[in-house]
Amino acid sequence: MLLPSFFTSQPTYSSAFFTVLLFAASVDAQDRTTEQGEAQISDPNQECAPYYYAPVNAALANYPAIWQPATIVASDTAAQAKYQGMLSQIPNIQPKGTQPASLMGDFGGYNYPTSDPDCWWTYGKCTTPKFAGLPPDIVTLPEPDTLGYGFDDGPNCSHNAFYDYLQQNDQKATMFYIGSNVMDWPLEAQRGLADGHEICVHTWSHRYMTSLTNEEVFAEFYYTVTIKLVIGVTPTCWRPPYGDVDDRVRAFAHAFGLRTILWQYDSNDWREGTGGITAANVDANYQALISLAQNGAFSTAGTTMLTHELNNFTMAEAVKFHDQLKAAFKYLVPVGVALNQTQPYLETNYSLPSFEQYVSGTTSVSGGSGASTETTSSANSSPSGAGQSSSKGSGSGSTGGSVGAPAAFAGIGALAATAIFASGIMRLLAF
Ligand SMILES: *[C@@H]1O[C@H](CO)[C@@H](O)[C@H](O)[C@H]1NC(C)=O
Ligand SMILES: *[C@@H]1O[C@H](CO)[C@@H](O)[C@H](O)[C@H]1NC(C)=O
Ligand SMILES: *[C@@H]1O[C@H](CO)[C@@H](O)[C@H](O)[C@H]1NC(C)=O
Ligand SMILES: *[C@@H]1O[C@H](CO)[C@@H](O)[C@H](O)[C@H]1NC(C)=O
Ligand SMILES: [Zn+2]
Repeated sequence: MLLPSFFTSQPTYSSAFFTVLLFAASVDAQDRTTEQGEAQISDPNQECAPYYYAPVNAALANYPAIWQPATIVASDTAAQAKYQGMLSQIPNIQPKGTQPASLMGDFGGYNYPTSDPDCWWTYGKCTTPKFAGLPPDIVTLPEPDTLGYGFDDGPNCSHNAFYDYLQQNDQKATMFYIGSNVMDWPLEAQRGLADGHEICVHTWSHRYMTSLTNEEVFAEFYYTVTIKLVIGVTPTCWRPPYGDVDDRVRAFAHAFGLRTILWQYDSNDWREGTGGITAANVDANYQALISLAQNGAFSTAGTTMLTHELNNFTMAEAVKFHDQLKAAFKYLVPVGVALNQTQPYLETNYSLPSFEQYVSGTTSVSGGSGASTETTSSANSSPSGAGQSSSKGSGSGSTGGSVGAPAAFAGIGALAATAIFASGIMRLLAF
C-alpha cells in the first residue's frame, strides 16, 4: 500500500495530527443522508437531532399532518377512489367513544352490549372476528417453544445501539413502525429493512382505531404506505395501537392485505416510570415469561409478548433479557417467520426465511442490502397470502417521499394510554 509521503517521512506525530484524523473520522460518521451513515452514529443525542431528508420533504403536501389522526388529503383522488371501493367490505359499525385531543381513548359515554357484537379487543380481548370473512388475529403461534419476537412504536431515533446488538446476535425481529415516526426518522426505518427485520405497520398517528371514523381508519392505514415510499416495500401486517381493534377496523386492515397481530403477554415496558410501574416490575414480567417457557408452557404452541422500541429503557430491557428468552424458548423469531410468511411484502423481490431455514441458521434470505451477508439461496417465496385480499393494491400509487423533516414531531412518549369505560372503571391499556 502506498502511503502519502508524510506518513513515511515523519517518525513521530503530534497529538494535534491525530486530533485532525479523529475529527475527520467523526465527520464521516455523521453522514446523515444515507441509511449506512445514520447507522454509524453512536451518541443517542446526535441520533435524535433532526435531519433533512429530501424525498420526505418533497412529499409533505401529499400526506396528512404527522401525529394527527389521518384523513384523506384533499387532492388525493387515488385515495378517495380506493376508499370508496373498499366501503362495501366494511361492516356497519359506528366509531366507539371519542378521540379527544389529549390522545386518550375515552369510551366513557359509550354503551356497548356485553355480548361483544363487534369482537372489540379493548372490551373483552376478543380475537376471533364475528364479521364473516375476517381471519382471526394472531396471538399465539403454531410453532412450539417459539417466541414471536417483535417491537412496537419504532423507528426510535436512538435505536442504533439496540439494532447493533440485534445485528451482532444475528437476531431478527418484527418491527411495528408508526407512520409518523417513519416520516420523522426515514433513515432509521431504512435500517430496519436493511438489517433484515420484518417490517409491519402500527398506523399513522397511533390513535385508538375504533374511535376513528371510517375515513380516518382508512387514512391511518393508507398513508402508512409511506413506509413504501421511504423503504421501498409495502408491509402485509399491522398491530393496533393499545390493541384497540374491532371488526370494522379489522375489515379495513384485511382490505389492505394486513394481518392483524395482537399479543398474549404484556411486558409493560412502555409504562415504566408511570402509574407506579417500576423497572423491577418490568423485569418481573420478562422473568415470568421466561419461567413459563422453562416450565414447558409453550411446548405445544408459541406465543407473543408486547415489547417496545420506545425509549432507552425499553430497548435496554430487550437487550438485557434477549439471551435468557432465547435459552428458555429455543426459538426467537419474527412473527412472520413463525408463520412461514416467506413473502412479507407485496413486492415479490423480498423474502423472509421459512421457520425451518431460520432455526437452522439462515436468518435472512433475498432482498435488502442487509440480507446479503447471510444469504443462502433466495428461498422458496411462495406467497402464503394469508389475510390478503384482492384489493390490497399499492395503496398509494402517488408521490415518492414522505412527510417530514422532523419539524413537528410530537414524540410517542407523550401519548397517554388511559381508556375510560362505561363501567366507570379506568383501565390502563397497552401501547
Ligand atoms: C427515542 O428514545 C429516546 C431515548 O430514550 C427518547 O428520548 C425519544 O423520545 C424517543 N423518541 C421516539 C420518537 O420514540
Ligand atoms: C441506553 O443509554 C445509554 C446511555 O446513553 C447507552 O450507553 C446505551 O447504549 C443505551 N442502550 C440502548 C439499548 O439503547
Ligand atoms: C412451516 O414449514 C415447515 C416446513 O415445511 C412445517 O413443518 C411447519 O409446519 C410450517 N409451519 C407453519 C406455521 O406453517
Ligand atoms: C425491489 O423492487 C423494487 C421495484 O419494484 C425496487 O425499487 C427495489 O429496489 C427492489 N429491491 C431489491 C432488494 O431488489
Ligand atoms: Zn404502540
